[in-house]
Amino acid sequence: PDGSVQIPVVVNVLYRTTTENISQAQIQSQIDVLERDYNAANSEYGSVPALFAGVKANVGIHFTLKSVVRKSSTKTSWSASTENMKKSSLGGINPTTPDSVLNIWVVNYINYGGQEVLGYAQFPGGSAATDGVVIGYRYFGNTGTATSPFNLGRTATHEIGHFLNLYHIWGDALCGSDLVSDTPQHNDANFGCPSYPHLSTCSGSPVEMTMNYMDYTDDACMYMFSAGQKARMLATFTSGGGRNGF
Ligand code: ARG
Ligand code: ZN
Ligand code: CA
Repeated sequence: PDGSVQIPVVVNVLYRTTTENISQAQIQSQIDVLERDYNAANSEYGSVPALFAGVKANVGIHFTLKSVVRKSSTKTSWSASTENMKKSSLGGINPTTPDSVLNIWVVNYINYGGQEVLGYAQFPGGSAATDGVVIGYRYFGNTGTATSPFNLGRTATHEIGHFLNLYHIWGDALCGSDLVSDTPQHNDANFGCPSYPHLSTCSGSPVEMTMNYMDYTDDACMYMFSAGQKARMLATFTSGGGRNGF
């Protein structure tokens, strides 16, 4: 499916205040970021260090905005464990045809185990009723309410990586594995904007790929997927891959 996958996106906006009811321009800005990041058209692509230039990838997935659904709510926080944002009967918005559409819910605050997270995603193979990605309105798109240092739309780039079966680059464990062979082993999540080269203390002390979208750095400091990550994402669109409805 290389270069041929098209992902229609429905953005479901749940707002309490008018500020939280983000503009169409902000929504489109997010789609544009996704289109660039997944097609090696982001401005930083040429800044990938030479060490990783041989594995950086043009993923070749295209995103189009299908529609926007808006709903007002009195809630000031949405729980990732109940997932009520995805349930009309509980104040949320049901997903639109989730087998063939990427649903993104934009909410005012995501409570994930008692703490705020920028976003979260469902991996392939889960329930259709809750399939998609949830993102806080301050971390969505690159204009309007988008707030530094998470104002370049990379939360959605990262979350859609999970939606397409990518794990965090550090494998969610110290020197863990992301099941991708061309990404180096990382000690742990990186935050902020690490200086290059940042050496891992894992076996062989490899240079960490801190500019990968599946790390936890600031939006400005993540700007590549690898070829191995691309292969893992594209595999989800094949029979049994969990995303073959697209
Ligand atoms: N904490 C979130 C997650 O684990 C997303 C982090 C995204 N990082 C960013 N710079 N936007 O899925
Ligand atoms: Zn993540
Ligand atoms: Ca790896």
